[in-house]
Amino acid sequence: MSTYHTSVLLREVVEALRIEKDHWYIDATLGGGGHSLAIIQQGGRVLGVDQDADSISYVEDKFKVQNSKFKIGVDVKLVRGNFRDIDKLVAEAEIEAVSGILYDLGVSSHQIDTPERGFSFQREGPLDMRMSSELGVTAADLVNGLTKNELYELFITLGEEYNARAICDRIISARGVKPIVTTSELAELIRGPKRTFAKTDPATKVFQALRIAVNDELHGLTESLPKALALLSTGGRLAVISFHSLEDRIVKNVFKEFEEKNLGIIVTKKPIIPSDLEQEENRRSRSAKLRVFEKK
Ligand SMILES: C[S@@+](CC[C@H](N)C(=O)[O-])C[C@H]1O[C@@H](n2cnc3c(N)ncnc32)[C@H](O)[C@@H]1O
Repeated sequence: MSTYHTSVLLREVVEALRIEKDHWYIDATLGGGGHSLAIIQQGGRVLGVDQDADSISYVEDKFKVQNSKFKIGVDVKLVRGNFRDIDKLVAEAEIEAVSGILYDLGVSSHQIDTPERGFSFQREGPLDMRMSSELGVTAADLVNGLTKNELYELFITLGEEYNARAICDRIISARGVKPIVTTSELAELIRGPKRTFAKTDPATKVFQALRIAVNDELHGLTESLPKALALLSTGGRLAVISFHSLEDRIVKNVFKEFEEKNLGIIVTKKPIIPSDLEQEENRRSRSAKLRVFEKK
């Protein structure tokens, strides 16, 4: 729906959240606002949260055009912040009853496609990868500052990169000559001297690992989900779309714990995945998994 980002599992999310007129929903990962807009079009009110200032200003502008249909500040509130503080952000927005919360994890296409943000191994840019300019540590800081063992651990645990040893060797010897400062420099080092024509770029997993570390993504998610559940009204639903196994495992286990503590039920025994058509039309959707929990 926008060039900023194509929303994944749009219909499935709206169905899962069972939107009721004038009830409040939190879009914890606003991005280009596609999911938020779908919720509003069903009659819901939305608090949209994103840690990236680009997302907030983009959606503000986009929604102004539609302003005859709903009022910003009344039916829609947009705030910049990290969803690990979701409890504070909701309190500050003075929203009391929350009927549903959505997380659509990871980065937006806008972030990947903006070379200066440094997320993409396909675009020359500074090795940054921060989703928020308020974060202190960049990918370049990690690549040039961590020890060889720390880099190895990072690539194994957050990238599941089987070639981590050789990649670390190449990074250590290159940065001994001069710091590695651009996405292309790092991507070339990861790819190494032997050119192979793999389906997936060899730089994929290391870039993923660095992005997760720079943004502390897994801890943020683990901290946020219990806060989100606490915010929900009885019968309210928590919907989470994840894009890789590390995130999905967290969501699955946290939902299991919620159920064991008798806090509600897991609605999706198996995750919902995009239709064949969606996967064909939007490559990025191929790894998406939607899990839903309903509060008791
Ligand atoms: C996949 S995009 C969301 C796309 C959105 N659902 C749409 O339909 O356009 C993920 C967004 O979440 C934001 N984000 C990721 N982690 C976050 C966090 N911990 N707190 C707040 N925003 C976060 C990113 O900045 C990005 O804009």
